[in-house]
Amino acid sequence: MSIDGYIDDATGSRLLLSDEADFDRVDEVRAGCDAILVGAGTIRRDDPRLLVRSPARRAARAAGDAAATPLKVTITGQGDLNPAARFFGSGDAGKIVYAATPAVAKTEDLLGKVALVVDAGDPLDLVRVLADLGARGVGRLLVEGGGATLTQFLGGGLADELQLVIAPLFVGDSRAPRFVGDGHFPWNDRHRARLAGARPIGDLVLLRYALSDRCDIDQEGRGAAWTRERGTSEEEGGALRRRGSERETPRSERTGAGPLTGSGTVAASCGASYSFLAAVAGPDQAGQQPATG
Ligand SMILES: NC(=O)c1ccc[n+]([C@@H]2O[C@H](COP(=O)([O-])OP(=O)(O)OC[C@H]3O[C@@H](n4cnc5c(N)ncnc54)[C@H](OP(=O)(O)O)[C@@H]3O)[C@@H](O)[C@H]2O)c1
Repeated sequence: MSIDGYIDDATGSRLLLSDEADFDRVDEVRAGCDAILVGAGTIRRDDPRLLVRSPARRAARAAGDAAATPLKVTITGQGDLNPAARFFGSGDAGKIVYAATPAVAKTEDLLGKVALVVDAGDPLDLVRVLADLGARGVGRLLVEGGGATLTQFLGGGLADELQLVIAPLFVGDSRAPRFVGDGHFPWNDRHRARLAGARPIGDLVLLRYALSDRCDIDQEGRGAAWTRERGTSEEEGGALRRRGSERETPRSERTGAGPLTGSGTVAASCGASYSFLAAVAGPDQAGQQPATG
């Protein structure tokens, strides 16, 4: 995001906030996830591919029996999405559209040939979305935006980690989309988020916040609670997954968690372990990265 908290500008063209090194970092994070979620607004505005662009990372995923690129997921209340969007047309991964109940039939008509359309309730219920993803084997979800979507994941206490990249520029236009909108967030003056890491990336800076006790990143930015499932290091692009045997801390036992309402419920109801990672870096850079084409 910009120094003044915007994730895009208000012009017709997309604002580039990240640099090549940060694009690569996002690529690594993507490669370590089971699914990537963006709101329908981001698909309409940015037409992202949401792919893993590094051939080595794609190959490592495929060698581990995963699709070369994570499952792609979106949420919509209206279902007005273009089936020709790159979200649907690119990559070998599955695509899931979670639609609010009143829009399911219309969405199915429009997108049924290019994606699996799933009823997500009326109103659309993110906890239900996460539970359904868990039942489909998603243990680690990367939420890439945009602002409306991040507001709900963060406001609902559904993210375990926030990766925030700040670009050295101001947008200075309140018509532009912000990182988050108004809301009641679990982290406030009485309950501050834990800064788990900070490092410059060129003229950008990456801030990592641990938002739940399932995210115990150490000072070097490594998640001590994550195992290296495919035997590679994080730096090498290995996928980091939570140990299956590890006990989840029930929501009621979480200390200082405030209104952490969603993630504990989801993990408990599905018997799965989750890490919901809300990453705010650049917009989907796949479309802007030469390597992805
Ligand atoms: N810098 C970055 O890292 C970054 C990353 C991603 C996006 N962005 C920017 O973010 C902007 C888009 O953000 P945005 O806030 O407008 O859109 P968004 O969060 O991507 O999508 C919002 C849309 O998602 C659906 N949705 C979200 N929550 C819902 C719920 N609870 N129930 C039903 N539907 C729900 C609705 O779709 P329907 O309208 O179809 O009902 C809603 O209009 C773009 O400018 C993009 O460039 C920046």
